[in-house]
Amino acid sequence: MGQLHLKQVKKFYGHFEVIKGVELDVTDGEFVVFVGPSGCGKSTLLRMIAGLDDVSSGDIVIDGARVNDLPPVKRGIAMVFQSYALYPHMTVFENIAFPLRVEKMAEDKLKARVEHAARILHLDQRLQQKPGMLSGGQRQRVAIGRAIVREPKIFLFDEPLSNLDAALRADMRIELAKLHRQLQATMIYVTHDQVEAMTMADRIVVLNAGEIAQTGEPLELYHKPANKFVAGFIGNPKMNFLPVTCRGVSEAGVEVEYRGQTVSLPVAPRDGVVGKALTLGIRPEHVQIGDGDISITIVPTVIERLGAQTVAYAALEEGGAENFCATLPGSVAIRPEAPLKTGIRAVDCHLFDEEGVAFERRVELTDIDMDLLSSAAS
Ligand SMILES: Nc1ncnc2c1ncn2[C@@H]1O[C@H](COP(=O)(O)OP(=O)(O)O)[C@@H](O)[C@H]1O
Ligand SMILES: [Mg+2]
Repeated sequence: MGQLHLKQVKKFYGHFEVIKGVELDVTDGEFVVFVGPSGCGKSTLLRMIAGLDDVSSGDIVIDGARVNDLPPVKRGIAMVFQSYALYPHMTVFENIAFPLRVEKMAEDKLKARVEHAARILHLDQRLQQKPGMLSGGQRQRVAIGRAIVREPKIFLFDEPLSNLDAALRADMRIELAKLHRQLQATMIYVTHDQVEAMTMADRIVVLNAGEIAQTGEPLELYHKPANKFVAGFIGNPKMNFLPVTCRGVSEAGVEVEYRGQTVSLPVAPRDGVVGKALTLGIRPEHVQIGDGDISITIVPTVIERLGAQTVAYAALEEGGAENFCATLPGSVAIRPEAPLKTGIRAVDCHLFDEEGVAFERRVELTDIDMDLLSSAAS
């Protein structure tokens, strides 16, 4: 079992409140990713779960038992850090066995555990080598092996892939996802990289300045971000934001005006917003060439040709957003400084109030799936 409950967990450094009352349940076997910008409190939260930092108030509960006062080794957790700190003079076997030696585990049991972990991590041919002979990815696997042999209830990872190059990071992402499926263990993984979060998580917890901005499955956060912060953080390139004015509210949705064009967005209506300044959000991948429910002429300034896609960073001819971004087909014929007519569809739009809180979108994730399927088939 590996259930975790965080109950109004807070952390102060002096008067500075770093974690502001986090409430979270993680179920047994779940892969949960804490993601957020640097300094938002991810490591602090993880270290409190591990017992490396005290909580200022609130409770940490593992499998029903409050562990606030238990030392790290008694909590049934194992943590893997960004810097994997292997012992260079020890073999891979001894590096992996290290926590078991500390526990004074019997030799035959220890050997079985290390060999089992090595097989899972494809290190069985490397056990007698020293870390110096291994690649960065293999070293990180040794560090993970050291966590596996302890058979923890919960694995904690703090940006374990940040030191690896991009290609290796992508490989290790896949390895970790497989590892999770194989071990069926609870894993909590911290990263500032939204791609890692999107690709590995069963559930993502987005942190902003010590508070949970939203919790949800990856596609839920992508399609239904609860606020502007999550909308801007999840997705790459980042969502575009345009100033609009609310012109009407009906059962069908919310009518907004963008530079003389009025469009009805399929979002849950609210009282008291007519006449208000709101923010429309549109992802770069939802900007199309030609007309849309709203048409926008863009003037590309920088064009990135990625092969499969072309990313255009643009100014808006009408003014407004300086850095508008559109992800267009790979072979699209566009040039810097040449105005281009683009359009966006009402169904793809997000809408936020003055506080940045999203109007609930009336798109069902199943509808989106069907859309994707039919566009993939055509
Ligand atoms: N030991 C400490 N003393 C004072 N402030 C700290 C300490 N550790 C972290 N902080 C502050 O707490 C905030 C969150 O840090 P951290 O949890 O490391 O963020 P993240 O892992 O999300 O980048 C930062 O503003 C950081 O400067
Ligand atoms: Mg950190």
